[in-house]
Amino acid sequence: MSDNIKSAKALTGATGFLGSHLMASLLSNGYSIVILGRSTKDERLHERIFRLLHWFGIESLVNQITCVEADLTKDNLGIEDEEYSRLCSIVDSVIHCASDTSFAESKREKVMAANIGGLKGILEFSKHANIDIFHYISTAYAAGTGETYCREVPSIAKTFTNVYEESKAGAEKIISLFCEKNSIKLSIIRPSIVYGDSRTGRSIKFNALYFPVHSMQSIKDIYLKDLNINGGKKASIHGIHIDKDGYLFLPLKIYLHGKGSINLIPVDYFVNAALKIIENCPKSGIFNLTTNSPTTFETLAEYNEQFMKVRGVVIGYGKPSDNTLRNPAEELFDRFIVPYRPYLADNRRFDRTNTDLATDNLNPPEFTYEIFKTCMEYAIGVNWGASIFTIK
Ligand SMILES: NC(=O)c1ccc[n+]([C@@H]2O[C@H](COP(=O)([O-])OP(=O)(O)OC[C@H]3O[C@@H](n4cnc5c(N)ncnc54)[C@H](OP(=O)(O)O)[C@@H]3O)[C@@H](O)[C@H]2O)c1
Repeated sequence: MSDNIKSAKALTGATGFLGSHLMASLLSNGYSIVILGRSTKDERLHERIFRLLHWFGIESLVNQITCVEADLTKDNLGIEDEEYSRLCSIVDSVIHCASDTSFAESKREKVMAANIGGLKGILEFSKHANIDIFHYISTAYAAGTGETYCREVPSIAKTFTNVYEESKAGAEKIISLFCEKNSIKLSIIRPSIVYGDSRTGRSIKFNALYFPVHSMQSIKDIYLKDLNINGGKKASIHGIHIDKDGYLFLPLKIYLHGKGSINLIPVDYFVNAALKIIENCPKSGIFNLTTNSPTTFETLAEYNEQFMKVRGVVIGYGKPSDNTLRNPAEELFDRFIVPYRPYLADNRRFDRTNTDLATDNLNPPEFTYEIFKTCMEYAIGVNWGASIFTIK
């Protein structure tokens, strides 16, 4: 490692969406990083990381990285004693970004094992390394479903949208107690829903915001294919047709539980704000990385209509009655967006007092149609992630 780089930061979750962006930003700012991660059955950890460095165009910074295979659930993170002691001697802070981000109740055991069970190893490591500060990447939704104004204070929530949120709130509590007991400063960074880079659209993950749009594209493709059968001879299927402007008319009623909005921040904002907190955090604190101008689902639907050239989408509020007939497109769309539905019409607002102070009032950009288009064009260009590492 070169002399001009600062002390080492340990980072978990570097192979994921937010963690990889944090890694790139830390490296570009001269930090040296110990990456605690895992291999897959096809690729070793260092190969996974190098592939990401290549994607970010920063392979030349590889010397600032130490890749260490670690198992968060094992004593000493499953790292051999000598190497563990060496790492403890060079690491001055930890950024814990690894998390199982599944929402499904059927994955409860796995989510809890990763997000709660996996804390012991990284916290013990932090203690042995005598670190100055522990940064935990949590979620704005650790605030739970009971709050309408979510302050930057410890969560006392009892009800959550899903097991993921519950596990993140539980983790915040455990980490807070541990850090307090061991006199380690703690920053809890709580982003809302993160999408790609607002300037370039680049992203390595395409869930959350992308899901309804991807679903709509899949449904559109099914009908376009059907309408085009026999050289485009079918004029209409169940009223679905191409209108005079070349838009696909697709009658589709989307039911939301009520009026509300979706709290979106771009990954470039997340990284810049998180870095400011990591660099300037004088004392423990909780930071909501959220927007004060959340996007309504109606706006998202308009963006989608313009971008996908689809008309006929109508938004309903409440639950459809049992005898409401749903057309196949509606049934399909409903099924696609199940996990994200609660986030599409949300009424929670987020306090940003600590965040504004720590980040010099750095705020995410308004989610305009231009940003939406840039992100969706990128997503489609890499086939919603399927060809992300083969296309430049
Ligand atoms: N993306 C968002 O919109 C968003 C919003 C709010 C908060 N967050 C928080 O931000 C953090 C990163 O989220 P993300 O979207 O980047 O998630 P992601 O893309 O799914 O990445 C998750 C990372 O965690 C690692 N991981 C998962 N389970 C693990 C386990 N059992 N043991 C060790 N490592 C494990 C993954 O490693 P492998 O690659 O080896 O699987 C990967 O590096 C999470 O803490 C999440 O709660 C994300």
